[in-house]
Amino acid sequence: MLPARFALAIRLLHWTMAALIIAMLFIGIAMVSTAGPAYSALLALHRPLGIAILLLGCIRLAIRIGTRAPPLPDDLPRAQARAARVSHILLYLAMIGLPLIGWAMLSAGSYPVRLGAGWVLPPILPPCARAFGLLRELHALVAFAFFALILVHLTAGLVHGFVRRDGVLATMGFGRNATLEPSAAETSETLEEDEARAPAGEAQTPPLPA
Ligand code: HEM
Ligand code: HEM
Repeated sequence: MLPARFALAIRLLHWTMAALIIAMLFIGIAMVSTAGPAYSALLALHRPLGIAILLLGCIRLAIRIGTRAPPLPDDLPRAQARAARVSHILLYLAMIGLPLIGWAMLSAGSYPVRLGAGWVLPPILPPCARAFGLLRELHALVAFAFFALILVHLTAGLVHGFVRRDGVLATMGFGRNATLEPSAAETSETLEEDEARAPAGEAQTPPLPA
């Protein structure tokens, strides 16, 4: 029997992390648009929240690989299903990669990654001014690409929920009325199974839908 919705832990993590990530994008932009004590105060918030996103992202990925995902609707065009799958992989990459870039950037700049309450993370790169400059640019670039991807993802979610009304939005929701069409149920699989099947050109719906 295949699920009509994502695992509860995935749904809880999805919405908690969505709020954290959107807050972090605005904290980051506010931080680089200011100077003086406000910069330090925002950075003191940005570092631990970013590391929390890194941790939650790893936990989420592990749960996602180990659980079954609901299928996409059968009538969704194949290109859209593929776009959904690729965009979800990119979202996972950004959730985990962006905080790592931030941590590496501060390490290369010889800045301690303080999390508060006396906790300091060890550096993950040796001091290097050139790497610091490159990673600083990369962090901003990936953050803006992440922002753009989130806007596309949000739009897709709302189109599924309010234009197509195909039940996809409910797969990430907490309502009582999530239903699954029997034909669609047969196509559900784990992330690993889907990765293995994708190159073979399976016509069925992938498990990382939009
Ligand atoms: C998902 C997590 C994260 C998001 C969404 C995020 C987002 C951002 C954004 C939007 C900026 C402004 C970029 C610009 O316009 O130049 C920024 C700057 C910055 N971020 Fe992050 N960040 C994340 C994680 C981290 C982590 C974990 C660290 C360090 C441990 C970090 C350290 C920094 C620093 C030091 C800056 C300021 C760079 C400068 O002054 O030019 N970030 N971040
Ligand atoms: C920072 C913001 C967000 C991120 C990083 C994010 C990330 C993701 C990822 C990676 C998935 C794939 C499911 C998984 O394997 O975990 C997903 C699914 C989903 N997201 Fe988001 N999401 C964000 C915000 C939103 C928002 C604001 C909406 C509201 C429309 C939304 C609606 C959905 C829906 C409906 C699904 C299920 C798609 C399906 O079953 O095909 N997400 N999200």
